[in-house]
This record gives sequence, structure tokens and C-alpha cells, in this order.
Amino acid sequence: MTDANAALVSELVDAGLDRREARWLVEEFVVGGDLGAAGALRVAAKRRLDGEPLQYIIGHWPFRTLDLDLDERVLIPRPESEELVGVALSELARGKVVAPIIVDLGCGSGAIGLALLKELGERGVSASLVAVDESFDALEVARRNALKHRLHAVSFVHSTWFEALDTSLRSHVDLIVANPPYVGDVEFAGLDAVLRYEPRDALVAPDDGGVAGFGDLRVIITEAFDWLAPGGVLVCEHADTHRPAVLQTAASAGFLDVHDHDDSAGHPRVLVARR
Ligand SMILES: C[S@@+](CC[C@H](N)C(=O)[O-])C[C@H]1O[C@@H](n2cnc3c(N)ncnc32)[C@H](O)[C@@H]1O
Repeated sequence: MTDANAALVSELVDAGLDRREARWLVEEFVVGGDLGAAGALRVAAKRRLDGEPLQYIIGHWPFRTLDLDLDERVLIPRPESEELVGVALSELARGKVVAPIIVDLGCGSGAIGLALLKELGERGVSASLVAVDESFDALEVARRNALKHRLHAVSFVHSTWFEALDTSLRSHVDLIVANPPYVGDVEFAGLDAVLRYEPRDALVAPDDGGVAGFGDLRVIITEAFDWLAPGGVLVCEHADTHRPAVLQTAASAGFLDVHDHDDSAGHPRVLVARR
């Protein structure tokens, strides 16, 4: 880092920014030592100091091997969802399907489905992806990310979960991945203010049977069974309080091979249910 850039980092730290974030902003905005960018940098720092997530200010963020374009129309992908991708890859490898059909429900920026497509491609597996969201805005961001990474085997479907999926997919999907909204209303009200920058519909789900934020998970787990091919698998993220409800719902839906993974912080997080 040049002396001039180091001075800008110190200026932002003195204004109250975390040093690591100050470095990120300087590296992002002062490209090639262009000190004319200092004005834009100060605006960006002010946005960050006001509480806006760094990812929206910078406009892109890494997710596994992808650099995803992001804005306030989509959820900022979380490290737990990177772990979900790892679980999904292992489960798919167990199934030994040659050209898997994958459905990503609530695709948002495209993070999970596109990461799978890219990493499977790198392993010589030619998968196809159906990316589903009820938000047109999210589908637009996901489409842009697919183009950015030259991932072409994707169709984008505007749908409320399975509702508008082509019925020819019924009993033919090898992998369904989902990171649906799973925060209850009451919990959302008490959460970190940073979450208020993200789309509420990406985070908050209705309560179901007395379980906060479980409404969307119940629909997905219950309906996934009919869309999966025999041997196909659902890999689905959930809140740390949801383990009993996801296991019971999956068993009631007819799944025989069901288990639930902790995330790396030791919290119940990812349901795996194989048809
Ligand atoms: C928690 S975000 C996950 C986004 C992305 N998969 C990720 O992991 O970063 C949930 C996504 O589900 C979408 N969504 C919410 N309700 C939906 C519904 N009923 N049908 C389809 N998509 C829905 C939201 O628009 C949002 O993009």
C-alpha cells in the first residue's frame, strides 16, 4: 500500500471505521493510486459509518469461488450458506448422477446455485440449474451473476417456491437447495440494525404450528419430496432453533434418510433429506 493510501486508511480509522474495513474501502475506491477518488471514498466511508453493510457499498463480495455482484435488492450471502454448498456437493457425489438437475429455491443473488454449478463444472460434472425466486429484483441480480461468471446452464423462474415450476421436473430433480427466510417477526424486531438494509422478505417467514419463522421451511420440506427423483436430496438451511421441526417435517413428508448438520459455529443449520 502506498503512503498516500495508508494516510487515507488512517483518516478513515480516525473517523471511526474498523481498520480492516478502511483498507477494503481504500483498495476498492482508490484504484491504481487515483487520489481523485478520495471524494467517492469519503462518501463510501460515511455510508459505512451510518451503518450500511460494506457489501452493498462495495457492490460485490466473495462467495466460495465466485465474486458476486450484490446490492440492496438481495440478501448478503452468509458463510453458513457456503457451508451448505459443501454439504450439497458431498451429497450429490454420493448419488453419482452424471448430469444432475438442481433447483435453488429462493436464489437471491444466485449464490448457492451458481457456486454449485461452477464447482461441479470444475469437477467435470455438467449440471443444470433452475434458479427460483418470487422477487423479480433478485432474479435480475442472479441473472447478472450468472452472466458475469459465464454460467449458462441456468433457467430463472419467477415463482412462489414450487408453484410455477415446469411440471415435467416433478420426480426428476436430483438436488434441491434452499436458504429460505427463517427469522420470525418478533426475533427480527430485536435483530441488529444492519439487517434492516436487507430485503425483509428475504429474511422473515411466518410462524407455523407455534414455531417462529418456520412457515416457508414447512412448505419447502413438505413439497420437495414430490419434485425429487428417487435418490434425490434436499439440502436446506434453517434457524438454530428449527432442528426438531425440520426433522419431524421431513419424516412426515416421507423422507427415510434424514439428518441435520451443525454449522462451523456448532449451531444446528442444514437439513439433508434424501428421497
Ligand atoms: C434468505 S434469502 C436467500 C438468498 C440466497 N439463496 C442466499 O443464500 O444468499 C431468501 C430468498 O428467498 C426469496 N423468497 C422469499 N419468499 C419466497 C417464496 N415464497 N417463493 C420464492 N422465493 C422466496 C427471497 O426473495 C430471497 O431471495
